Order: sequence, then structure tokens, then C-alpha cells
Amino acid sequence: MGRLDGKVAVITGGARGMGATHVKTFVAEGAKVVFTDILENEGKALASELGENVKFIKQDVTKAVDWETVVTEAEETFGPINILVNNAGITMAKSITDLTEQEYRRIVDINQVSVFLGMKAVVPSMQKAGGGSIINISSINGLVGGAVGYTDTKFAVRGMTKAAALELSHYGIRVNSVHPGVIETPMVVQEDTKAAVEEFSKFIPVKRIAKPVEVSNLVLYLASDESSYSTGSEFVVDGGITAQ
Ligand SMILES: NC(=O)c1ccc[n+]([C@@H]2O[C@H](COP(=O)([O-])OP(=O)(O)OC[C@H]3O[C@@H](n4cnc5c(N)ncnc54)[C@H](O)[C@@H]3O)[C@@H](O)[C@H]2O)c1
Repeated sequence: MGRLDGKVAVITGGARGMGATHVKTFVAEGAKVVFTDILENEGKALASELGENVKFIKQDVTKAVDWETVVTEAEETFGPINILVNNAGITMAKSITDLTEQEYRRIVDINQVSVFLGMKAVVPSMQKAGGGSIINISSINGLVGGAVGYTDTKFAVRGMTKAAALELSHYGIRVNSVHPGVIETPMVVQEDTKAAVEEFSKFIPVKRIAKPVEVSNLVLYLASDESSYSTGSEFVVDGGITAQ
């Protein structure tokens, strides 16, 4: 028996990185998964590797019209949606003086507005399903400061998670945020950042960065009925970084 048997999930940013690991983990636990991304080739390749319980849809999470397509196609293919993982995101490591207004608005659109659009689009489907679980991927930078722009959006995700949890609890829809520390994905580990990441690892209490599946295991718990009493909360997976 899978921990997500009978559930229909939508996962954004699923073509690579943590999103791809969430997709694989959910499928292995019995879910039917629609995943989306702007990376079409990577998305199609992953979908064909995983088989009939998976559907890839090319989507820009900042576009409300794309969200309508995702919900319609998910319902037509697998039925009403039980789980939404708002995972897609970008980072920009620039100072306040270097970050342009255009870049600032772009990161707000992708990391923050998309989460609002996703919840807005999916809630009617979850109501049809009789309830659901929304998992919004924030960051430890939704708890403590980091780069401007990124930090702002990740605090916003944490805040809107609480507002949505309060509003949606009487529909049986739970909403929680996940706050990863440093995770081994293309966002963080590139050829030119490897040395800096290794150096930073020395300051992490567990002395290493995380594998994506270590975050997927937490997301799986929140998606499943095992977390039935958790809503409006922050779930940190950071190897102790924010405990220092
Ligand atoms: N890697 C880390 O250390 C870390 C730490 C904390 C939080 N996070 C968060 O976890 C999430 C996943 O990050 P990751 O490390 O796997 O990054 P990643 O860059 O490997 O994956 C992010 C995915 O989102 C997709 N994406 C970007 N813009 C999009 C858009 N407009 N529409 C649809 N898809 C879009 C990308 O194409 C990519 O496939 C992000 O929200 C990120 O902020 C990452």
C-alpha cells in the first residue's frame, strides 16, 4: 500500500531539482501526478521515464491562464486534485543596489505571485475532492534573512500559507510551508559554486548539504493523511542551520 494511494497531485517546477524528486517519490507512493515546468524537454523526458501515472504540462507558474489549463487537464486525466506542491522558484543573489526593479518584480512574480495563483486555481478542485493538502516551498530564508528579493518572497510564502490555512480549514484543506536549508540541486550546486558550497557545509551542524529526497520525504508526509492535524505551520529541513 502506498502512502498516497488514490491521490491526485500537482507539482510545479517538477522537471529537475527537488521538484523532480518530489514527482518520483509521489509516484512511488501511489499518487497520480501532474507536474509542470517551463523546461519542456526535461519535463517530457521525466514523464516518459515514469509512465502512465504521470502527466507533464508545460506551464509558466506566473500565468493565471496556464493555471486554468493545468487544473482542467489534471481533472480530465486523473480527477479532482488532492495535493498541490508549489515548488517552482528562482534565486537571485544580488545586493539591493545591484538588483534592478525589473529583476525584483520578476522574482516576486515567480516565487510569490505564482503561489497565490496556484492556490486560487486549485482550491475549487480540492473542494470537489472533499479536501486536500497544499505544500508551499519556502526556504530557511522565509525564517531568517538572506539575499534581498529571494528572502522577501520566501517570507511572503510563509505568510500566505498561514492566511490560506485559516481560510481553507473548514473545507478540509490543509496548507503548510516547507523551509529547506541548502539542498543539492542545480539551483545551488553548479561548477562555479561547488567550492563555496563545500566551504559553507562546514558551518552546517550536520556538516553536509542535503539530498533532494530528504526534502521529498517531508513533503510526502505533509501530502499524506499522516499529517492530518498539521495546518498553517512551518516545517524546517535544514540540518540544524537555523538552530544556531
Ligand atoms: N536548493 C536549495 O538549496 C533550496 C533551498 C531552499 C528552498 N529552495 C526552494 O526549493 C524550490 C525548488 O528549488 P530547486 O533547488 O529544486 O531549484 P531548481 O532550479 O533545480 O528547480 C526549480 C524548477 O523551477 C522551474 N521554474 C522556474 N521558473 C518557473 C516558472 N516561471 N514556471 C514554471 N517553472 C519554473 C525551473 O525550470 C526548475 O525546473 C524553489 O522554490 C527554491 O526556492 C531551494
